[in-house]
Amino acid sequence: TQSVDILKDQIIFTEGDDGDCAYIIEKGRVLIFVTKDKEEIPLNILGEGEIFGEMALIDTHARSASVRALEDVRLAIVTKQQVLERVSTADKVVQLLMRVLLKRLRRKNILVTGGKPLPEDAEFYDLEGGEEGTQSALDQIKLENQIFQAFQNREFELFYQPIVNLKTKQITGCEALLRWNSPLHGLVSPNLFIDVIENSSMVIPIGHWIINQALKDLRTIQDQLRLNKKDRMADEFMMSINISGRQFTHSDFISNLEDLREKHDVQTHNIKLEMTERIMMDGAIALDVLNQCRTQGYAISIDDFGTGFSGLQYLTQMPISFLKIDRSFVMKIMSDPKSKAVVSSIIHLAHAMDIEVIAEGIEQNEECLVLETLGARYGQGYLFSKPVDMGRFLKLI
Ligand code: C2E
Ligand code: CMP
Ligand code: CA
Ligand code: CA
Repeated sequence: TQSVDILKDQIIFTEGDDGDCAYIIEKGRVLIFVTKDKEEIPLNILGEGEIFGEMALIDTHARSASVRALEDVRLAIVTKQQVLERVSTADKVVQLLMRVLLKRLRRKNILVTGGKPLPEDAEFYDLEGGEEGTQSALDQIKLENQIFQAFQNREFELFYQPIVNLKTKQITGCEALLRWNSPLHGLVSPNLFIDVIENSSMVIPIGHWIINQALKDLRTIQDQLRLNKKDRMADEFMMSINISGRQFTHSDFISNLEDLREKHDVQTHNIKLEMTERIMMDGAIALDVLNQCRTQGYAISIDDFGTGFSGLQYLTQMPISFLKIDRSFVMKIMSDPKSKAVVSSIIHLAHAMDIEVIAEGIEQNEECLVLETLGARYGQGYLFSKPVDMGRFLKLI
């Protein structure tokens, strides 16, 4: 049944009942009330278009009030599943805020009845998702603030890891990697905080700062190379910048990028935008922005290739110039023939499509040799250098 008819004065449900569905009023009005010493205390009158009975579904406690039809009413039914499906997929913090509001409303309804003692047992107030959920949602907010504060305190820094030509071992470029230089915790790896940044709107100002810093340093690197008569290396040097999905699909991404590029007087062909396969899956917007980047002359590189979405169709549509083979394959290339087969296939696939390959996470000479034999042209990893600060990077080149 999708809707039910209830006659005037009929009770729809009673306070304390278990809740199995909520109702949207299609016609008529209902009275929400609680009972104290057999006396009804009205809380509210609801009419057409309004919903009731949702609380017990959301927090899985008993009905917080009773409901009676004030006239003949028609109600559309909202199932428990329809509500829970949405609640359970909502943002953690939104879930927390909902729990807090429900708890307050239930407490208020109980207070209205005056005489009735408030249940002191912790269980009642630990609504579904309990302490743990509350804590992690609040931690999330605190962590976001802490990270943004650190950013404003200029505790962020970019490190650079060389990308080398596997044959000549010459440095052909570098990847900019974010570091948090925390006075409290020391140098913090981005694995611990990059998700928090990427899942919040602070990715826009922080992403802007990253691009600005990387392009400024690109300029310095090229100037030094030219000073040292390494003009060709300067002309071909590529600065790779990691770009997150939210940042990339932001409407001002390209115009901001262009502004920063002009500010530091660097060329698009020296700039490589690294993004994961996930961005490619964003469909139409991604393709449009990628094409604009490509038209301007920026290089596009797919990061962590082979670890994410398994579809390959996007490779035929997106203007991609580089693929980065993920470290998880490189790590096993000596010990696991299957990983080696995957790497070999990726390299063949890439070359057939006129895409260059960069192998990531090379730690041993043997890995380097195998990758070179398989046809990978570029590599990056601790074997050549760990990510270093700008001062040390300038000494490397
Ligand atoms: P990623 O883009 O895949 O970066 C490569 C990571 O592998 C870096 O970790 C690098 O230090 C590490 N690595 C490189 N060579 C080796 C090796 O030989 N052995 C081992 N064990 N590790 C190696 P890092 O710097 O900790 O960055 C982690 C991730 O954080 C990055 O993974 C990237 O997804 C993200 N990230 C870093 N900087 C930025 C940034 O500026 N913007 C965005 N959006 N994400 C960033
Ligand atoms: P639920 O607790 O499932 O059952 C009783 C319903 O009455 C409740 O969901 C809300 O939809 C509604 N309700 C409870 N308290 C109030 C209130 N103070 N004002 C308006 N509606 C309420
Ligand atoms: Ca990367
Ligand atoms: Ca990677």
